[in-house]
Amino acid sequence: MSHEEFPTDRPAVVTCGLPYANGDLHIGHLRTYVGGDAYARALQTLGQETAFVCGSDMHGTPVAVNAEKEGVTPEEFALEWHDQYAETFPRFGVEFDNYGHTHDQTNTEMTRSIVRALDEAGLVYERSIMVAYDPAGDQYLPDRYVEGTCPYCGERARGDECDEGCGRHLEPGEVERPVSTLTGNPAEYREREHRFFRVSELQPYLQAFIDRLEGTANAKNQPREWIEGDLQDWCITRDMDWGIDYPDGDREDLVLYVWVDAPIEYISSTKQYTEDVGTGEYDWTKVWSPDSQVPKGPDETIDGGEIVHVIGRDIIQHHTVFWPAMLRGAGYAEPRAVLASGFITLDGAGFSTSRDRAVWADEYLDEGFHPDPLRYYLVSYGAFQQDVDFSWAKFRERTNNELVGTLGNFLYRSLLFAHRNYDGTPDTDPTEEVVDRIEQAVEEFREGVNEHSVRAVARAATSLAQFGNEYIQREEPWRLVDDDPERAARVIRGCVQIAKAVLVLFAPVAPGRCATVWDRLNEDGSLAGTTVDDALEPPAAEFDAPVEPFETVDEETVTELNEKLKEQVAATADAAADEEAGAEADDTGEESEKLEPLVHERISFDEFQALDMRVGRVLEAEGIDGADDLARLIVDIGLEERQVVAGIKQLHDLDALPGTKVVLAANIEKAELFGVESDGMVLAAGEEADLLTTHDDAELGERVR
Ligand code: 2FM
Ligand code: ZN
Repeated sequence: MSHEEFPTDRPAVVTCGLPYANGDLHIGHLRTYVGGDAYARALQTLGQETAFVCGSDMHGTPVAVNAEKEGVTPEEFALEWHDQYAETFPRFGVEFDNYGHTHDQTNTEMTRSIVRALDEAGLVYERSIMVAYDPAGDQYLPDRYVEGTCPYCGERARGDECDEGCGRHLEPGEVERPVSTLTGNPAEYREREHRFFRVSELQPYLQAFIDRLEGTANAKNQPREWIEGDLQDWCITRDMDWGIDYPDGDREDLVLYVWVDAPIEYISSTKQYTEDVGTGEYDWTKVWSPDSQVPKGPDETIDGGEIVHVIGRDIIQHHTVFWPAMLRGAGYAEPRAVLASGFITLDGAGFSTSRDRAVWADEYLDEGFHPDPLRYYLVSYGAFQQDVDFSWAKFRERTNNELVGTLGNFLYRSLLFAHRNYDGTPDTDPTEEVVDRIEQAVEEFREGVNEHSVRAVARAATSLAQFGNEYIQREEPWRLVDDDPERAARVIRGCVQIAKAVLVLFAPVAPGRCATVWDRLNEDGSLAGTTVDDALEPPAAEFDAPVEPFETVDEETVTELNEKLKEQVAATADAAADEEAGAEADDTGEESEKLEPLVHERISFDEFQALDMRVGRVLEAEGIDGADDLARLIVDIGLEERQVVAGIKQLHDLDALPGTKVVLAANIEKAELFGVESDGMVLAAGEEADLLTTHDDAELGERVR
């Protein structure tokens, strides 16, 4: 089923994955929040009624473990971080309509009522399982209190998550060779009665749900292997004190697993927003449709609003399997889309909070940077689902070239020219070319939102500004003012209109700086209240001199910041961590960003001819179970069909691939990856694996020369 295009007449809610209330935020965390904020603002700009909600994730071992280290209660500890997050997000322009937390009364009650509903639907049962126990510490070891080996991929794993290997959620008792993280002693398994949610019963529903789900390709493809495989029931209780007690004193020795009450906060937070503004303004029940009759057929859905979850790619399984299963079982509407962001790396290597190898959120602001350049970087550099690198050098390059050089330059020069020569907007009409180009940008913006791409949303505005620069450069109004004043007025009229449209379309990405420029334009409402329809509304006749929206970052600053980061890492790095990090990325951060150098060694034409490249067409595409990035393709190359393995699972919508023409290296030696034979290689370019194709009528099997 495909959903109706945005804007629809149902209310939308955009949520962001809840941060665990357990430590400082770095710019890697911000990618999800800035992405979610930009997406929610873009929906509103399209005219979609939208709430943007989140909250702190207060429970579970991630919080309990850190609170213990600090010697305070988990509640005290988590509340302190919660307050800090509530302050930090707006400083980056991330403005939730409601920011609650999972330990508050709304969420406690909501969680209990949902668990009760699942129970009443016959979807909860008790089972005896083996759980890790530390005899020395005399306590059970849920989740992060135990580590061991992943039974699926053999990598080192946490009790509830194979965080360094295949990324799977692990059930209690699954981790092999368990060791207590409390004492470092080997743990033993002891038998305990726990409550389980019959996810397996919802398999047909989940299969239909995943076919309907929109969002990034990783969120739509990865879950298939879990849903279509041997779907296990899910243990929803833990032997802990910190958390939401199992309802009705039924099993008062247990709390609910943190992943039960955490996503329920999406609902609770939306409800709190309604309580705040009133149902006339926004009605949470129209979004979540609480306590609905559960339809029988998997293809029938519960009517609700447009629910969009923005998360990190490590928690796809929770949002595309357990969470929709809970919603369905308890009679709530299902998500329309899941947008799963890749991680941010630092000069090619992962952030490490323990080694202080991170750019901290506060630190960025303390350097005196405005949040908007960082927002632009996080939203527009690389596809949302892809891991991307942060370096100060790249930050400088993007700020100076794109924000200052293209967008800021156009806004400032055209508005200044208009102000100086006409006191504002010349009294004439923009040319048809300009109107068409703005309409095109609005269309690109609309498509970006409907394709769930904040990057495309940003690009709609930056390429319109690029056009504005070309237009003003080509028309040279500074010459025309004397030679052909009428024409000069039309050109500048067009430029002011383009500037207004750029501000409307770029505001979701850079709300602060766009609003500052907007405020000089004497427009009636605030920029935050505009929609795409305003892009072509006539600008105010008179306006003030503009301000420059963005500032350049100088090279010296980058050198200093790199130096500082290097010292910061060195100060906390210990020998073991260094060893683990292996070959460290270079300090300037420039190397990893550059294109690969050309290969100077030449090959002969015959050597080139030895490579048998053929035009093919993808017949089938599916993710390979257990492999994060690999997909199995069947490609028709005219003479025969080939099975190949390609690293595109996260990067392409595999369902949309059949029918695509590709180029296949047919005589490359065979390989076996994750037990699947690869007989050929499809050619692709760049980090996003842009698949090579032909553009005319080359037939299947024809050689590429
Ligand atoms: O992985 C995490 O950081 C979790 N705190 C995310 C929770 S998102 C949600 F479902 F609530
Ligand atoms: Zn694993």
